Amino acid sequence: MSRLLTFLITVLLFLGCKKDVSHTVEEFNTRGLITEKAMVVSARKEASQIGTEILKLGGNAFDAMMATEMALAVAYPYAGNLGGGGFLVYRLADGKKGALDYREKAPLAATKDMYLDKKGNVIQDLSTVGSMAVGIPGTVAGIFEAQERFGRLEISQILKPVINLARYGYIITEKQALRIAHYDSMIRAVNGKEILYNNNLKAGDKLINLELAATLQRIAEHGRDEFYKGETGQRLVKYLQSKGSIITLEDLEKYEAKWRDPISFQYDDLIITSMSPPSSGGICLSQIMKMAEPFDLKDYGHNSLKTIQVLVEAEKRAYADRSFYLGDPDFVDIPIETLTSDVYLQNRMKGFSFDKPTAVDSISHGNIVGYESDETTHYSIVDQFGNAIAVTTTLNGGYGSKLFVDDLGFFLNNEMDDFSSKPGEPNYYGLIGAEANSIVPEKRMLSSMTPTIVEKNGEFYMSLGTPGGSTIITSVLQTILNVHEFQLTMQQAVNAPRFHNQWLPDEIRMEPHVFDKKIIQQLKDLGYTINETKSPIIGIVDGILMLEDGTLEGGADKRGDDTAVGF
Ligand code: DON
Repeated sequence: MSRLLTFLITVLLFLGCKKDVSHTVEEFNTRGLITEKAMVVSARKEASQIGTEILKLGGNAFDAMMATEMALAVAYPYAGNLGGGGFLVYRLADGKKGALDYREKAPLAATKDMYLDKKGNVIQDLSTVGSMAVGIPGTVAGIFEAQERFGRLEISQILKPVINLARYGYIITEKQALRIAHYDSMIRAVNGKEILYNNNLKAGDKLINLELAATLQRIAEHGRDEFYKGETGQRLVKYLQSKGSIITLEDLEKYEAKWRDPISFQYDDLIITSMSPPSSGGICLSQIMKMAEPFDLKDYGHNSLKTIQVLVEAEKRAYADRSFYLGDPDFVDIPIETLTSDVYLQNRMKGFSFDKPTAVDSISHGNIVGYESDETTHYSIVDQFGNAIAVTTTLNGGYGSKLFVDDLGFFLNNEMDDFSSKPGEPNYYGLIGAEANSIVPEKRMLSSMTPTIVEKNGEFYMSLGTPGGSTIITSVLQTILNVHEFQLTMQQAVNAPRFHNQWLPDEIRMEPHVFDKKIIQQLKDLGYTINETKSPIIGIVDGILMLEDGTLEGGADKRGDDTAVGF
């Protein structure tokens, strides 16, 4: 379908149900920022600017990664972090691809039943709030590992603008003020007092974090070990133990980021490379895309009845597998080849019909239910040398465990909740896992993060990813399809309305007021349950697309304060 026709249909669709859409036609007729050589797209303008500044100094994507990630820790403490973890997927200018896992892990003293009471019931909030929820942070190890292997600049040079951002402050945005206010009572309760981030902060205020500036300064001077063995690590452990944590200095000392082989697969003429376990992202994305590939989505149309049906049914099957098979590959055997093989996936789709939904209980054993929001963050970087990276990082929940280490200036994660505390028992987000994701000392908890690089004709084509817990995978999926099948621009593709299905609960979650009412009714008539109230937004996708003339287009999701900067 020609680009013009797609555009006209999009316009008609949105004019046709004008009252019921919060998106404007203009938003769907936009290109994102276009640059010649390099770009950083992240959740905060300041972070994208600092990443770009590092590129302009002659740094590459991995130098800019360190700067952007730390700038997000300063200006986007909701998800940007030193106290969390993440995943990097990269493609070097020469075409070599790889992945780095800097996911948190369980403390040495962790036990399988650590979140259960004597009767074997899950103790409410223990894995989500406060010191017992904290996994061993991986972020500092991750950014150093990547920079050391591929970067070009001195650490002090990279961290200088970040330290200045913490020292001289940044402006609180409208969305940020709302978030801080929303979490204020929880943060006060966990910390037992008001902290730096509190509901006296209003949009437009300047926030200065001198403690974080000092922490970053020490890291700039002493390197990675400052966080894991040095003064910062010792202060962190002392603080955690004063709050009842089981984490010791040995836990910090033993932490290592790990290079992993990413998951790569072909879809039409695209090669898609995404995160391997301990994230479920790459496997699930490949399963869904492979199951959808035989269908003519382009012909069905963007967010049309048939497209939604195919994707929902493929998603159902992939998420059923996720809950049963996936976990930390260092601890469990995962049948990756089978799960992603054509034969297996063709078989999985055998019961598919356009006439009615496949019953969820007919799909598989295992069980998964989930509600997740947008408390992670993703950034994409393409440098002037032709390297591309996709990085997703998180504290898990908004402000993680809500524990804020005052004298170090950062929040700690509540990633332990991504483990399955008890088979069959939902975690905070409603996810129910199996043995493969049970708690074991030093094991990494299963993730849905899906930092992804797409290639076309052997060249870099797209870098993208998003927050959103279990909806991460389906948001990345839809964004790739929006560009590839439906010819949307990168900016349109990230802005477009999204839906989500994860097998259980047996429903299609849809962003409210942005889908054609007629299609929603048709889905209901077929027997689908539609939930438009659970997720006001699904994902906050950031991406970079290489256009035919070799320039770059940024897609910075309008759902957040996300911004593309480049040159
Ligand atoms: O690793 C994961 O899949 C989750 N901890 C990500 C959490 C997330 O995206 C936050 N928003 N829901």
